[in-house]
Amino acid sequence: MPSAPSPQHDPMRAPSAEPVSRDAVAPISVGLRAPATTPSSSVQGDENASTPVTGCGASRSDISAHGCAHLVAERLDHADATPASSAPWQALQALDPALTRRHVLVAGGACAAGVGLSTEALAQGSPSAAPAVPSAPVAQEKLVTLSRVTLQVNGQSHTLELDNRTSLLDALREHLKLTGTKKGCDHGQCGACTVLLDGRRVNSCLTLAVMHDGAQLTTIEGLGQPDRLHPMQAAFVRHDGYQCGYCTPGQICSAVAVLDELRAGVPSHVSPDLNVRPLLSAEELRERMSGNLCRCGAYSNIIDAITEVAGRPA
Ligand code: FES
Ligand code: FES
Repeated sequence: MPSAPSPQHDPMRAPSAEPVSRDAVAPISVGLRAPATTPSSSVQGDENASTPVTGCGASRSDISAHGCAHLVAERLDHADATPASSAPWQALQALDPALTRRHVLVAGGACAAGVGLSTEALAQGSPSAAPAVPSAPVAQEKLVTLSRVTLQVNGQSHTLELDNRTSLLDALREHLKLTGTKKGCDHGQCGACTVLLDGRRVNSCLTLAVMHDGAQLTTIEGLGQPDRLHPMQAAFVRHDGYQCGYCTPGQICSAVAVLDELRAGVPSHVSPDLNVRPLLSAEELRERMSGNLCRCGAYSNIIDAITEVAGRPA
C-alpha cells in the first residue's frame, strides 16, 4: 500500500492561506521574470524546507522532490480541472495579471533544463548560490573520452580522434563531410542514414563510430558519382524513384544490400520457406525495404528500379 503523501509534499493540497509575495514565488517562476530584489526572509536554511515559496503552497522540499517542471505541470493539471477558480492559478495571476498559461508552460521547460542547478542552489540556502551555473559544463568536460578510430570509407583510410559518443552517422557527416548520407530521425526509424558496413547495410545513426575501427564503409558517394552512376542510381533516375530525394541515398544503399542478401539466400519475414532460396518478388522487396521510409511516397517506382537492376523487367 502506498503511503499517503505528507502534507508538505502533497502537490494537490490546498494553497497556503498566508499572503504570498512576488519575491517568494521566484524559485518556481524562473523564465517568467526575475525577482525584483533578493528577499531577506525568503528560503534560508533547512529549517524553512516546508515554508511555502509559491503561490500554490509549494515548499522548498516540494521543489526538491518533484523538480520545477513537474511541479508546474501538476499545478497546470489542477488548473485544467477548474481554470477559473483554481487556487494556484489565481495566486499566480494575483502576482502578475499579464501571466498566461503559455508563460507558465515556457517557464516549465526552462525549469526542466535548469532544475538540477536550481535545486542545488536551493539546497545551499541562498539565491546567491546561483553562480554555480558555469561550473556544470566544466565538470562535464572532464567526462568526455576521446578515441582514435581508423575507418576505410569509400576506399580511403581516415583516422579520426572522436568523442566515444559520436555516432557513425555524425562521424561521416560532421567529421568527414560526407553529407550524402542523410540524418532523418537519428533514432533508427527512417533508414535515411543507411550505409554499407563491411558489405551489410546498417543504420549509421544507431551505432558508434568507435565500434568500427578498421571497418570498410561505403556511402552513396562511394557507390557512384554523377559522371559514373551505380546501376542502382541510374535505375532510380530512370524509374523516377524519388521526389525530394532526401531518403534516396539511404534507399539506394539499402537496395544494393537487398540484392546481395537475396543472392546469398538470406530469408526475410515473408519468405515462405527458410530452406529454399528466396525469390525476387515484389513482396520480398517491399518487406526488405520496409526500414527505408519515403515521405514522398515513391515506393512503387523504387520497387521497379530494384527489380530492373536485379535483372527482371520492372
Ligand atoms: S536517421 Fe538513422 S534511421 Fe533515421
Ligand atoms: S523522395 Fe522524398 S522522402 Fe523519399
